[in-house]
Amino acid sequence: MIREKNNVFYLETENTEYIFRITEGGYAEHLYYGAKLNDDNTVPFEDKLFFVRGSCIEVDDVSRRISMEHFKSEFSENGKGDVREISVDIVHADGTRTCDFVFMSSDITEGKYELEGLPSSYAGNDSVMSLVVKMKDNNSGSILELIYGVFEKANVITRAARIINNENGSIRLRKIMSSQLDLDEYKQYDFVGFAGAWAYEMNMVRRPIKAGITSQASFCLNSSSRFNPFCMVCESKACEDYGEVYGFNLVYSGNHYESAYMDVFGKVRFMQGINPSEFGFVLERGGVFVTPEAVMTYSGSGFRDMSRNMHRFVRENIVRGEWKYKERPVLINSWESCYFDIDEDKLFTLAKTASECGMELLVIDDGWFAGRNDDTSSLGDWSVDADKFPSGLANLSDRLKSIGMDLGIWVEPEMISENSDLYRAHPEWAVRIPGKKHALGRNQMLLDLTDNDVRQYITDAMRRVFSCADIKYVKWDMNRIVSDSYGNGSTDNQLEFAHRYVLGLYEILGTLTSEFPHILFESCSGGGNRFDLGMLCYTPQIWGSDNTDASCRVHIQTGYSYGYPMSCVGAHVSQCPNHQTRRVVPLSTRFDVAVFGALGYECNLDELSQLELGQIREQIRFYKKYRKNIQSGDFYRLMEDENEIQWMSYDDAAGTGAAMIYRKRVVPGASFSRIKLCGLKPDAVYEFTGGEHEKIMTTGDVFMKAGVKISEGFVHGDNENDARFLVDDSTRIYILEERK
Ligand code: GLA
Repeated sequence: MIREKNNVFYLETENTEYIFRITEGGYAEHLYYGAKLNDDNTVPFEDKLFFVRGSCIEVDDVSRRISMEHFKSEFSENGKGDVREISVDIVHADGTRTCDFVFMSSDITEGKYELEGLPSSYAGNDSVMSLVVKMKDNNSGSILELIYGVFEKANVITRAARIINNENGSIRLRKIMSSQLDLDEYKQYDFVGFAGAWAYEMNMVRRPIKAGITSQASFCLNSSSRFNPFCMVCESKACEDYGEVYGFNLVYSGNHYESAYMDVFGKVRFMQGINPSEFGFVLERGGVFVTPEAVMTYSGSGFRDMSRNMHRFVRENIVRGEWKYKERPVLINSWESCYFDIDEDKLFTLAKTASECGMELLVIDDGWFAGRNDDTSSLGDWSVDADKFPSGLANLSDRLKSIGMDLGIWVEPEMISENSDLYRAHPEWAVRIPGKKHALGRNQMLLDLTDNDVRQYITDAMRRVFSCADIKYVKWDMNRIVSDSYGNGSTDNQLEFAHRYVLGLYEILGTLTSEFPHILFESCSGGGNRFDLGMLCYTPQIWGSDNTDASCRVHIQTGYSYGYPMSCVGAHVSQCPNHQTRRVVPLSTRFDVAVFGALGYECNLDELSQLELGQIREQIRFYKKYRKNIQSGDFYRLMEDENEIQWMSYDDAAGTGAAMIYRKRVVPGASFSRIKLCGLKPDAVYEFTGGEHEKIMTTGDVFMKAGVKISEGFVHGDNENDARFLVDDSTRIYILEERK
């Protein structure tokens, strides 16, 4: 719901409220973001700014003299005394840089706005309203639109900004953020980001916000595993179930930037948008630039509720298309099973065993296209390798159908190998500075997605691949970051390259996903190097990490769970010793961790024992029974300490859920565990089963408040029959079912 009263805008969701006003002088002043209020009176929490301190710059706001340095602004600008970090920085047509944006008009509408050329959230079943506040630069006449979306049920507010050049010549955007949030000085805040690397994604980094800038960014071209665009600002005492927490994300797959600037008095300015260091955009007269969409949510009760808001929003308002609510197939992926050593018969044999275990789809990973026997060649040449697949992929998909399996395929469309026919024909299509030496990453180069001909080539090539057989699933990979940045689509100003690349990618993905709506797309970037809401607008799931060791994955998936629902995290059971860590982890643990995501297997089933295959059959039977509940349920991090992690997923509509307990190391003395559940109906009766034949029935209230003590871990004693025998990296799963 969005209301305007006496120049004050109230943006209300079920539990939260965001308030700003237009001052007498026309400035957009932020007033409040937090729990919903029951009175419209904003006077109590307005800043009482009436004089200008010391060396500050004075701005005449009609009835008061203010300094922009202490003003809580909706979108701060350069040149009028706000010497903190600012959100918009423009070099005007006359070469000056000052902006003085004042209110022109506003427009409140039902439904969700769209952002031209960019993916963004949509209303779905939520009740959504949009607001556009038009501001005009007193100096130059250019227009700034502040765009807001209010998602009532999701408790989410989205933001974006649009610049329209009304000047007598071209202007240069040096920086334009998507969102800004000015917070009051009454709390000590922490900045919480998720940092990582290849096979080491989503490690929480929590830093106290001190005077100055606390920031994170991607410089990689894609959103990157270095810092995920999801982050939080929270009061320093916040934990899972206590404290004020703001969650932020960006619907963007490129270089992003998040920062919290604290002034010496403790006011904190958060902002999020395209990384300005890797950006610069020229707008001709009449030209328009629109930012990616930023997402914000608030919880007054800790991380858990913030995460639930984000999960719901991603599931309902970001993920779209035929696969939105469909149960995701259990797949077998050929990568860690066979690497490049594949052919039709070998894959069919793998698929046959997989199908006997209950799996539903075979993914031919890398190595299926002409000449691709290792990672040194052939990217860009998207024709089927006739030696490995003499009868084409259609023959394999027909054979798979006869055993009840579907076919999926891996592609890496944004890349080109130097050793490829495509490079020999079109070296100018690769990202490299003409005439200069360039660097490789995984032996390959990026294709220049700013070039229309390249986009056309990729779209046509993928169209052919996706139609060459009955393809039901596509893994869209991207295995290197940028170097030698240069695009043919922005020859005069290479600061435009990175953003134009992302726009080009979205154009291709938009075309292909709408032409092939039945295909389940999973994106990937050497694991989680492009795990973001922009990709999730096209691909309902993303491969979480190339690290398939469950004892690492449990942390990586915990990291993702702060901002993303588990249904969008691809998670596989792989072979042991694990290929990334050489660690041996029980098969049950590998499954229990993967089961919370979009489950797959990535191991050579034909090397497993009958006993292991029997276990896998049982795992998949279990998964299929509860997959809907787990995938559509609400995910909770129940607890975490240095030796134990507990998760839970609960489908409220069905009254069914699953809880998982993971023990890192066996420590003889520390053998007790209690699971305190979340999200249940307090008065409903539930049965809790699993583990060491546990079967306990009581109310949701008891399960949530007192919890359930599970069987003691084995310590060595006489009566050990019912003990929980643990080895290092052990898990147990418990099922929870409402008894009506
Ligand atoms: C990347 C992916 C892997 C696999 C390989 C294939 O590393 O993350 O899952 O697809 O590429 O080359």
